[in-house]
Amino acid sequence: MKTIKKYQEIIEQALLNKSYGSTPKELYDPIEYIMSLGGKRMRPVLVFIGCDFFCGNIEKALHPALAVELFHNFTLMHDDIMDNAPLRRNQTTVHEKWGNNVAILSGDAMFVKAYQELCKTDSDKLPKLLDVFNDFAIKVCEGQQFDMNFEKLQKVSIAQYLKMIELKTSVLLGGSLKMGALLANANESDAQKLYDFGKHVGVAFQLQDDILDVYADTEKFGKQVGGDIIANKKTFLLLKALEMVEGNRFMKEELHMWLNAPHFDPAEKVTAITSIYNFLNVREIARNEMKRHYDIALTFLNGISVAEIKKNELIAFADSLMVREV
Ligand code: IPE
Ligand code: IPE
Ligand code: MG
Ligand code: MG
Ligand code: MG
Repeated sequence: MKTIKKYQEIIEQALLNKSYGSTPKELYDPIEYIMSLGGKRMRPVLVFIGCDFFCGNIEKALHPALAVELFHNFTLMHDDIMDNAPLRRNQTTVHEKWGNNVAILSGDAMFVKAYQELCKTDSDKLPKLLDVFNDFAIKVCEGQQFDMNFEKLQKVSIAQYLKMIELKTSVLLGGSLKMGALLANANESDAQKLYDFGKHVGVAFQLQDDILDVYADTEKFGKQVGGDIIANKKTFLLLKALEMVEGNRFMKEELHMWLNAPHFDPAEKVTAITSIYNFLNVREIARNEMKRHYDIALTFLNGISVAEIKKNELIAFADSLMVREV
């Protein structure tokens, strides 16, 4: 994990040295703000790991790494508007602080900044990296739209949910690794296996995020706890609960009452639905589902012929994500 820390420091340092622009302030201050709030910097770390995995020069990975972190933060800025989220990394969200219009436009500018950063990649590698970047960027939009559509739907299957989180979250993790791999001249088949590894780790990661949204300590998590419940997000926990209450008329009525209530006290709804989750033990079922995807991820890693030491480093990092509280 020493290397991971080093990668995080490289990113932090590079971000500190970056300036995004000065006027109009309302456009650039929110970018400065969200980029300086920290975060795990996991996606740029994955670009570095992907590059080092195939013995590439990680100095060449800095611009693409910054590009994915900018892209990620742009998606968070817009996601917080869509999710009506008050808190991000323990601070007021951009749209709460400056308003929706500012958050939309600053987000747009960040998306452009991400491309500008990506375009600094060595020209022989740029076309392939752009392909990967464009592919996940459009998929994240698709996933985010499904996520919003599902809030309004009564019936969503677990398969539809898994597809949605693959799009909104996992492809960016897989794509970050793949960009690193391509920088290191990995062949297409190995790069794809690393992508698939990241994709399945990403599914486990989003399942964990859904669990934390209900069960985290707000202070540590840095986001509002219960936000998914308030918004009727079709998380794995809710879909499992909906499936399980089918045999229990009383509980089924209560759950549907909360989901269909046009007006409610948010804290009361969060407490009531959390009690249902606790009774049904859906948290444990979600953890098992995480583990299942994590194991699938490992099968892709096993299929790549690189030194065990490289794999172990990646596994240690992925393991740490599975037990995260932040
Ligand atoms: C948050 O991502 C969005 C999800 C996909 C759940 P992270 O948990 O990686 O957020 P930061 O960048 O560390 O704050
Ligand atoms: C995040 O899903 C997906 C993207 C930002 C693209 P969430 O809405 O669960 O992420 P958080 O919990 O707000 O970080
Ligand atoms: Mg969201
Ligand atoms: Mg959100
Ligand atoms: Mg979440």
